Amino acid sequence: MKKADIGLIGLAVMGENLVMNMESKGFTVAVYNRTTEKVDKFINGRAKGKNIIGAHSIEELCANLEKPRKVMMMVKAGQPVDDFIEKIIPYLEEGDIIIDGGNSHFPDTIRRCKYVESKGFLYIGTGVSGGEEGALHGPSMMPGGSPEAWQYVKPIFQAICAKVEDGSPCCDWVGEGGAGHFVKMVHNGIEYGDMQLICEAYHLMRDYLGMTTDEMQEVFAEWNKTELDSYLIEITRDILGYKDEDGKPVVDYILDTAGQKGTGKWTAIAALDEGIPLTLIGEAVFARCLSSMKSERVAASKILTGPKPEFKGDRAAFIADIKNALYAAKIVSYAQGYTLMRAAAKNYGWNLNYGGIALMWRGGCIIRSVFLGEIKKAFDNNPDLANLLLDPYFKNIIENAQDGWRRVCSAAMLNGIPAPAMTSALNYYDGYRCENLPQNLLQAQRDYFGAHTYERTDKPRGEFYHTNWTGEGGDTSASQYLA
Ligand code: 2AM
Repeated sequence: MKKADIGLIGLAVMGENLVMNMESKGFTVAVYNRTTEKVDKFINGRAKGKNIIGAHSIEELCANLEKPRKVMMMVKAGQPVDDFIEKIIPYLEEGDIIIDGGNSHFPDTIRRCKYVESKGFLYIGTGVSGGEEGALHGPSMMPGGSPEAWQYVKPIFQAICAKVEDGSPCCDWVGEGGAGHFVKMVHNGIEYGDMQLICEAYHLMRDYLGMTTDEMQEVFAEWNKTELDSYLIEITRDILGYKDEDGKPVVDYILDTAGQKGTGKWTAIAALDEGIPLTLIGEAVFARCLSSMKSERVAASKILTGPKPEFKGDRAAFIADIKNALYAAKIVSYAQGYTLMRAAAKNYGWNLNYGGIALMWRGGCIIRSVFLGEIKKAFDNNPDLANLLLDPYFKNIIENAQDGWRRVCSAAMLNGIPAPAMTSALNYYDGYRCENLPQNLLQAQRDYFGAHTYERTDKPRGEFYHTNWTGEGGDTSASQYLA
């Protein structure tokens, strides 16, 4: 029998669906699972009659692979990945490739890539996005790791991934080491932000404009025909139209406590580590945290007071404002996400292709949207673009959207409706375009109490001064340090 093009370990739904996808594109796949009954069940079930080889040990799996061997793990992130790497290595030869397609944290991927390379093998950590459907019909894939491995994996990954209208694959080489999993993490963070923005738009329509679920469904249906055309707007439209058995919207029965699996938190932590203001995603993570404090909020709602939302004016005009607020804040969110990737690339020595990343996210994944095509264009036009807000296309959109955006943020504040993502995005925008922020005063405070020194507007950068503010501290300054 022909040997397999690739081996896959981990026959949960994602793994199985990826195998079916690979086989449907003409590849022969060998499969293994820790609980080997699942191998038999799969081989005698969905995989019956297909070019799929069942293996009952890792040795058997590796013996069935074409060289260089490609062994892909789709197992639970964490220790199981390290355990499998140890179990696979004895059956590999120089140049063989281990691939991790799970939701691994990028520092783990950096470490594993170094380790596997030190043993003479190659490693790829790849983000796979799009859920079970995506895995079967075409996910967005974000591979990074040992660059020499890419040529061998590319034909398989680019065959099974999602494609955009012109046929371009939503999968390309991201970069060295943990770059693939880093970019996947930022994708998930952006997903948190996009979802929170949609929820804020919904909140304003529901509690400020007093709209019914059906009316809101129509708005999202309309928005989905515009530049906001995206998977998340589309499913929001469908969710709002979905009725329970009693004919009432299911969404009205769902408890307002958000869960999270931690990738948004990782993104926010990475931003703090890199010193990058990733405010919108940070707020989106915290909004989930606040929502989960349900009983405390219910108690507080009976004690703490605020304005009663009251809308007077042109409803259609305000809905247009909400759309502008959503769009402008979304641009800020992506701008922030890209600055985080740029900082990490510098820190870790990755050579990231920013336009390519937008293309990988353009289809197959949860944040897929028409908008990402414009981001690709912006980075293709200028790969060194420091901030997406400076791209002429996006600058122009924000210029047109910002009056509405400001009205929405003001109305949310005045009426006591939380809109942390929309408003923090506006704060970032105003901060980023501010020539003189008040941190001159902050530096004075730091110098006052800690002799931390400051730079002066009338002297060259890099020269540090200390003022003896009280006349008592003397002229001794603290040595410079950077946090
Ligand atoms: P299982 O079927 O034997 O549980 C998703 O959970 C996949 O990861 C499954 O294939 C599962 O194997 C595997 N997995 C989960 N925890 C694991 C562990 N500690 N060691 C090995 N495989 C594990």
